[in-house]
Order: sequence, then C-alpha cells, then structure tokens
Amino acid sequence: MKFSFVKPTLPARGVVVVGVLNNRKLPPTAAMLDGKASGAIVRAMKAGRFEGRSRQVLNIPALPGLPRHRVVLIGLGDAKAIDDLAAQALGGVTVAHLNSVGETAATVFLDGLAAADQFAFGARLRSYRFDKYRTREKARDKPTLRALTLTDAKPTAARRAFDGLDKVADGVVMTRDLVSEPANVIYPETLAKAARGLTRLGVKVEILDEKRMKALGMGALLGVSQGSARPARLVVMRWNGAAKSKTAKPLAFVGKGVTFDTGGISLKPPANMGDMKWDMGGAGVVIGLMKALAGRKAKVDVVGVVGLVENMPSGTAQRPGDIVTSMSGQTIEVLNTDAEGRLVLADALWYTQDRFAPRLIVDLATLTGAIIVALGSEYAGMMSNDDTLASRLTKAGEASGEKVWRLPLHDNYDKMINTDAADVKNIGNREAGSITAAQFLQRFVNKVPWAHLDIAGVTWSGKTAPTVPKGGTGFGVRLLDRFVADFYEGK
Ligand code: BES
Ligand code: MN
Ligand code: ZN
Repeated sequence: MKFSFVKPTLPARGVVVVGVLNNRKLPPTAAMLDGKASGAIVRAMKAGRFEGRSRQVLNIPALPGLPRHRVVLIGLGDAKAIDDLAAQALGGVTVAHLNSVGETAATVFLDGLAAADQFAFGARLRSYRFDKYRTREKARDKPTLRALTLTDAKPTAARRAFDGLDKVADGVVMTRDLVSEPANVIYPETLAKAARGLTRLGVKVEILDEKRMKALGMGALLGVSQGSARPARLVVMRWNGAAKSKTAKPLAFVGKGVTFDTGGISLKPPANMGDMKWDMGGAGVVIGLMKALAGRKAKVDVVGVVGLVENMPSGTAQRPGDIVTSMSGQTIEVLNTDAEGRLVLADALWYTQDRFAPRLIVDLATLTGAIIVALGSEYAGMMSNDDTLASRLTKAGEASGEKVWRLPLHDNYDKMINTDAADVKNIGNREAGSITAAQFLQRFVNKVPWAHLDIAGVTWSGKTAPTVPKGGTGFGVRLLDRFVADFYEGK
C-alpha cells in the first residue's frame, strides 16, 4: 500500500475518513463536512448508533452537498486517551473497513488528535495478508485498498516519522511471512538463505554448517537435528550501527528455529501438529528484528543468532535417554525428544556469549505449551536473571503493545532438572514447565544479563486484532525494536 502525507485540504472527490470524538463531538473537519451536508452527518450518526467511541466506524455513502465523496466516520474516543497504540488501532480498523467496502483509496483527517504516522503504521500492519498460495480466490474477496493519504499540519515531519515505523513494519512482515510458510518451503537451509538476504541492508551474515558446528562441539543442537534429512544451520547476523562500533559490546538476540517440530521419537499427537511449522517463530523474530534495525539504520551494535533444525523421528533420530555433550561441556540427558527447543538454544546461547561477550542476551522461543496454559495469547512469558533488563522489556512491551509478564527463576526450580546420569536433564516433572525450561537455558548463559521470552502463546493468533490479522503475528519485532530504541540507541 502507498502512504502519502499532505496538508489538510479536502480532495475534489473520493473517500474521506474523518475522526469524530466520543459523544459525537465533531473536530473541525467533521464539523466542516457536516456544514456542507446541511447536518446530514449528525443525522447519520444518530441513525447509525455512532457515538464516536474508539474504533467505531460509520460508512456514509452519499450526502447532499458532498455528492462526490463517500464519508467514513472513525470514532476516536476520548481525546486524552489517544496514545500511539490507540492511533495504530484506528489505522488498522480503518483499512479493514475500507477493504470490506471495496475502496481503493482514501484521504484521512485526524485533525491532529491522533498521530498520522502511527495511524499509518497500524494501517500497514493490519493490511498484511499471507495469500501467496491462494490461486483461486475471487477478485471480490480480495482486499482492494491501494493508497492511503494522511492529512497532517506538518506532513514532512509525519512522513519522516512514518519512514522509521515503515522499516519496523518491514521487519514484522518478514517475520509473519517466515512463520506462515510451511515446513516444506522453510527448513534450515532456506531459512538461512532468507537471513542471508539481509546482507543487502548492510547486515553481516554468517552461516555455520553441520561440520562447523560439530567442530565447535554443538552436540545438543546437532542431536535434535540428526533424525532429519534436512541439515542444521546456525546463522549469525551482525548489525553495527553504533557511532563507536567495535569498542562497544553488542546486544544479542537469540532465536529458536525449529522449522518443524514433530516431537521426534517422543512423537506429538496428530491434532494440530501442523502448528509446529511456526516452531521457528523465535528465529523468525530475530531475523525480522535485524531487518527492522538495519532498515532504519539503528545506532546500535546488535548480533542475532538463530539455531535452525528440523525435529523428526527416523532411524537416525536421537532416542529418549540419549546423553549429548553441549558446546559448554555440560552433558544433557535427553529424556524427552520433544523438549528440543532448549537443546537448540543451549548451544546457540553458549556460542553467543562465548564469541561476542554481549552486553545482554534476549532469547525468543516457542518453548513450552505450559506458557499458553499460564498466560494464553495476551502476554509472552519472561524469565530473567537481571531486574533492570526485565523492567526495560516490560516497559517496551507496554509501549509497543507486545506485552511480557515475568515469571520467577529460583534454585529450587533449578534442582528439578538435575539427574543422576548427566549434568542436567531436558525435562522437569509436570510442575512449572515453562520455568524449568528457562532454568535449563540459564545454565547456558554464563552470567551474562539475560532474559528469555517464551512466545509459544503469542506467535500465532486465531483471531484478528486491530493491527494484527489472524495468523503469524510477528510478536517480538515491535517489542524489541522499541526496547533497543528506548534504552540502547546512541547509549
Ligand atoms: N514447540 C513446543 C512448544 C509449543 C507447544 C509451542 C504448542 C507452540 C505451541 C516444544 O518444543 C515442546 O514440545 N515442548 C514440550 C516440552 C515438554 C516435553 C517438557 C511441551 O510444552 O509440551
Ligand atoms: Mn517440541
Ligand atoms: Zn518445539
């Protein structure tokens, strides 16, 4: 979709979207149009139960005095409550409505009450659609909107602000695409190739093959992969945007990239196993985040590391009870081959801290079904060994709308993954499954300030939200972009 920013003037014809405040309070543009239409807008609001509550929409096809315009009213709610997230939601709701009525273009008048750049950001996020495999969809069912013109008293400034958000949206879109692709298309080699594409934006991309990983001693990651016909990959992406690059320690983001999780020999039941195509969601976020940061030339040094494997049962698959040696030297008893994400991350995390000595590590993983039981799809779970890091992530979550909720770590949970046969086992008992998974990861971060985000409940959505169509959400890109921007850029 094409976004333009112009000074507020009524176009000669076409669709105009006009904000109206709560209790049908008309901002200047709505009042002006109502005047031209001899009060028809106020009458239409009354007839249509439209009160101007936030995100209410009223479609008024033709009006006396405005015969060449279609007027769409969008409820802004209370003026004081229109923050960035509200403005994004308004943009999302507006494009959904315009598509539903088959419009191709519209001009939006917010009269400075909602930020035009944020409105456009929300509009773009909501316009996402993964439809490349729909070959027989009827034209009348396809979205129609192609161009949105935002009016703003300072259109150049609004455009500049939107340009940065547009790059973030590029990252979100990439992540959504990657998690939506099926596992016959996205597997370790092709996901690595997608990451390599970021080279164009100035990201340095290295791809480690199995031989290299073996030489590094990554027995935990490789054990997960050994049942698959698809070879594993580990991808390292570096964006050096800080003014004094090379002297500063980078921020590190690490993602679980299980391109399909059958459970392995501890095979999952068939129902909904197809969901496990998005078990690379953590890696997808790290790749999309690198795209966003490089795209908007963030002034920060960042490294992204993703461990890419397919978890399959076969004659070469690892067995429950196998003991593998991780890169850290710690031995792991693999009692359940379906608890594979932590095995992949064990080596990816150790490698990251060992090679880059980062300022902090945030890992993202669709790690446990238990986090969905605990938090549903509203918040991602967070566990951290550092209060400052945890509170910054919480704040970035509130600001971005991608919220995280901290759960505890404790020695007594850590004890639950001790085993007689090896240094650690890859499952606990039935209790606190998301926390014991995090305790496992903590054994591989070696004192670096670290936070783990369990995104199993938020990576895929069954229902559409104002800025997130159902399907792959891209949850994590906006959160971490905001986390970087608010706390580390230029610092
Ligand atoms: N990828 C799954 C977790 C998951 C489940 C993500 C549902 C998204 C939706 C993970 O690899 C897994 O299988 N975890 C097991 C761990 C258990 C065996 C300790 C789980 O949560 O059941
Ligand atoms: Mn699993
Ligand atoms: Zn998994």
